[in-house]
Amino acid sequence: MSEKNEKIKLSVKDKSYDLSMHEGTIGPEVIDISNLYSESGNFTYDPGFTSTASCKSRITFIDGEEGILLYRGYPIEQIAEKGNFLETCYLLLNGELPNSEEFTEFSEIIKNYTMVHEQLNRFFTGFRPDAHPMAIMCGVVGALSAFYHDSTDINDPEQRRIACHRLIAKMPTLAAMAFKHSLGQPAIYPKNNLDYASNFLHMCFGLPTEESKVDKTLAKAMDKILILHADHEQNASTSTVRLAGSSGANPFACIASGIACLWGPAHGGANEACIKTLEEIGSVDRIPEYILKAKDKNDPFRLMGFGHRVYKNYDPRAKVMQKACHEVLDHLGVKDNPLLSIALELEKIALEDDYFIEKKLYPNVDFYSGIVMKSLGFPMEMFTVLFAVGRTVGWVSQWNEMIEDTSQRIGRPRQLYVGSKQRDYVKLNNR
Ligand code: CMC
Repeated sequence: MSEKNEKIKLSVKDKSYDLSMHEGTIGPEVIDISNLYSESGNFTYDPGFTSTASCKSRITFIDGEEGILLYRGYPIEQIAEKGNFLETCYLLLNGELPNSEEFTEFSEIIKNYTMVHEQLNRFFTGFRPDAHPMAIMCGVVGALSAFYHDSTDINDPEQRRIACHRLIAKMPTLAAMAFKHSLGQPAIYPKNNLDYASNFLHMCFGLPTEESKVDKTLAKAMDKILILHADHEQNASTSTVRLAGSSGANPFACIASGIACLWGPAHGGANEACIKTLEEIGSVDRIPEYILKAKDKNDPFRLMGFGHRVYKNYDPRAKVMQKACHEVLDHLGVKDNPLLSIALELEKIALEDDYFIEKKLYPNVDFYSGIVMKSLGFPMEMFTVLFAVGRTVGWVSQWNEMIEDTSQRIGRPRQLYVGSKQRDYVKLNNR
């Protein structure tokens, strides 16, 4: 980030203030208002942070108008096509793609951390079998903070590195355990001769009674899902992790807070909500009825998997996901998938509709990811968990970057207070 010579003049009532401008490597220039309150006594008002850059970051760049997503400068399409998830993890964490030696070493480190403490199994038995797996994930990931005391000194870069590696490695194990719990099946231990995505599918679908065989094409699709979800700059869950971490909180607890935020239907929960909508629509001829519902101001219904705060053009992840969807269904020999037929027609109709064009509502990553996840054999409740497995590397990379950034302070937004003015307390019997 460099400060520009030019200053922005802000006039408030009869006074004016010179505000600095910063420019990043790409993206809009940023007006620095960090001293505005101390100099003018005014706050800025920005609900939903639509115009606020809360930090500087080198990790991920999005150009929402052009539909561009870069991880450390590399376009998402290239990484998804040519790379793999563990390589993406290394890139996001360290800033550069690994060479083959670095990749082997990194893979070994992650593999060595895939098991979780046996005592953690006890947490799972405390949950009802019908508990939502995201509820379980909030609990068990937070519980990691009680197990790994040797990687919680956030001021020690080595301990931070170990915490990041542990989270990347243990997340699939915990996610698979949550899934097995819902099925009433025993947890399957990780198999370290498998790659990351294959190992995850092995833990989810393997049985202790049988030799598990992981389909290569399905593992590749799983890997792609993880790459596409790996990071997305300052989205709601990542900002939650950064905010939690800004107080110096335990790293495992910070990631649990990110999982809680991700669960909401406006964020990671949209993939589950999207499949529910497609199932509810049920057939292509009912699409117009649902388009009308989505456009009706008096109807709370929204077309899940459509729209994005940042993308005002096509979400590039949705393009990759749509292709992966066709590949998986072709591989499985599915000629006619009713949900995919509804999704494709829904997309076509919505993209020609004035309401969606005017509001720049395009399919997002969640529009097709649910169909792929369902085809892999996951029930709807697991969809957001898979998102969380992929996003973990983004959360830990951003958390680590925040701790290293000497300009970061505890996150503490202000407010526009609209409540009662000061008044005197009235005793209970006088009210
Ligand atoms: N269906 C119908 N109308 C919509 C939709 C939709 N999916 N999304 C936005 N709109 C309308 C909305 O009603 C509003 O209309 P008006 O200006 O008349 O009030 C306008 O478009 C702007 O919407 P907003 O809610 O103010 O926009 P936002 O930037 O705050 O919200 C969003 C972005 C993603 C939460 C929203 O588009 C949405 O709820 N989409 C459905 C949920 C979804 O698919 N979420 C996944 C996002 S991608 C994965 C991730 O990163 O988590």
